[in-house]
Amino acid sequence: MTYNDSNFLIETIVPEGEVIISRTDLKGVITYANETFADISGYSVDELIGKSHNILRHPDMPRAAFEHMWQTLKSGKMWQGYVKNMRKDGGYYWVFAEVSGVYKDDELVEYKSMRTPVPKETVTKMQRKYDEMKLKNKDMIRVVKYIPFEEYVELQ
Ligand SMILES: Cc1cc2nc3c(=O)[nH]c(=O)nc-3n(C[C@H](O)[C@H](O)[C@H](O)COP(=O)(O)O)c2cc1C
Repeated sequence: MTYNDSNFLIETIVPEGEVIISRTDLKGVITYANETFADISGYSVDELIGKSHNILRHPDMPRAAFEHMWQTLKSGKMWQGYVKNMRKDGGYYWVFAEVSGVYKDDELVEYKSMRTPVPKETVTKMQRKYDEMKLKNKDMIRVVKYIPFEEYVELQ
């Protein structure tokens, strides 16, 4: 499976009842990934382990969402939210994520995350909300533009 820009609009649906599980070290480097995570993201478990969790970062996600995630985690609380992730092939999938600390003898040792499917209507709502957040925060903006074939050929 290789990356291709033309997969950008292709959504992979997380099947109902499936849970995507991962654990990371305190810097967000993946230490565990379940098979469902590998299946949905298009990476193998081996490819995921040792990579930063931002390997899945989709450009449609506002920076503020992850800032809020890390602030919440650092204050010792669980973070819940909707995340659009990018697959290895350039496609995308939406999840509802719960991220929290793993404690051993009262000491924070890792983070863990469980992700479940998102209903279609919520996806539409969240995509709009994140687009608005990006505009408001002067974040990276997505532009879709149609160009004549001759101009496209020049770009190759
Ligand atoms: C347990 C855990 C799970 C995470 N899951 C995701 C995820 O599914 N997708 C994602 O883009 N970032 C996830 N992150 C956040 C990333 O570590 C990172 O902060 C984010 O992708 C933004 O990238 P940046 O910090 O390089 O800007 C997770 C972090 C932790 C600790």
